[in-house]
Amino acid sequence: MMPTTLARLAVVASLAAVLAAPAGLAQGDVIATRKDGFKGMAANMEAIQKIVEGRQPAAGAIAPARAIAAHAPSIVTLFPPGSDRGDTRALPSIWSDRAGFERVAAAFVTQANALVAAAESGDSAQLARALQATGQACGACHRPYRMPR
Ligand code: HEC
Repeated sequence: MMPTTLARLAVVASLAAVLAAPAGLAQGDVIATRKDGFKGMAANMEAIQKIVEGRQPAAGAIAPARAIAAHAPSIVTLFPPGSDRGDTRALPSIWSDRAGFERVAAAFVTQANALVAAAESGDSAQLARALQATGQACGACHRPYRMPR
């Protein structure tokens, strides 16, 4: 075998190991990671709520809204098959109705981007409406896919 072929095989092997890593991630890790993500979004939602309720300039909501929108697309990736077991309130319907789950997750991404646009508009009334719609988009996923306490 030519040395270059060996080198290529080694690259392929290490690439395969990298690609396999997410699947090999302990389920507890992915559950903890997704919970941290949700907690971060909740904190940013509260920050925006304070701005709306305190009638502060909408511009203050830009950074927390962007943080929510930046996290939103990764939500679906944090529910790999098998991560239904452990310290989690994820309902089995996430995996049995994957298309439905991905639909509400995609709708949430769209809404999170609308929240950013509302904050950037500087229009407080628009921000208040977008905040309410975003809260509804959180609930639209929680009702069918998260265990009630
Ligand atoms: C696409 C579905 C989906 C969307 C959108 C969504 N959530 Fe969740 N959320 C879940 C699921 C499922 C869980 C349960 C996760 C677990 O226990 O493994 C959860 C858990 C949580 C938790 C509890 C985290 C913990 O520490 O246990 C909070 C807080 C939360 N979400 C807030 C929000 C907020 C705020 C939004 C909107 C800004 C939101 N979520 C949007 C599905 C969603």
